[in-house]
Amino acid sequence: MYEITFYENQVTAEELLYLQESVGFGKANLLQSEKALKNSLYCISAKVDGKTAGMGRVIGDGARIFYLQDVFIAPDYQRMGIGTEIMTHLLNYIKANAIEHAHTTIGLMSAKGKENFYLKFGFRVRPNEKEGPGMMFNFTNN
Ligand SMILES: CC(C)(COP(=O)(O)OP(=O)(O)OC[C@H]1O[C@@H](n2cnc3c(N)ncnc32)[C@H](O)[C@@H]1OP(=O)(O)O)[C@@H](O)C(=O)NCCC(=O)NCCS
Repeated sequence: MYEITFYENQVTAEELLYLQESVGFGKANLLQSEKALKNSLYCISAKVDGKTAGMGRVIGDGARIFYLQDVFIAPDYQRMGIGTEIMTHLLNYIKANAIEHAHTTIGLMSAKGKENFYLKFGFRVRPNEKEGPGMMFNFTNN
């Protein structure tokens, strides 16, 4: 039997880089990732028998908009329920910190083909009849 342990706000930039690369999302910048983690509202990570297995984090303004980012489960540890546990921790953090009686938005960008994973937590896909598509822009500061 294996042991899964969850850690709040303890994920390191090295672990982020390792997990991102393990799922094929490319190599991230270490300094940038250190700053990104420091500026996150909440991070949750998982280890299986002491080995780094997954993570997720919440970013945003802490009030009107929360955003889920870097939900990565290393391939060896997928389909074990860790992603679901990580989502539960992320959403519980948001619910515990959302302003009472105010309308709160939670956003995320789904990887292609992972939409079903998020639908079960109540997310809807854009564009739809009423809402336009999400849009983004990437650049490298050279
Ligand atoms: C998408 C991702 C986060 C899901 O994490 P995960 O830990 O594999 O998720 P879970 O195990 O909680 O659930 C995944 C599926 O496995 C199923 N599952 C869970 N435990 C299982 C088990 N013991 N046996 C078989 N299936 C199982 C779940 O029912 C679920 O099915 P569904 O997606 O059809 O609903 C993960 O696959 C991942 O990191 N992928 C690569 C990176 C990525 O795409 N990240 C998302 C960026 S937006």
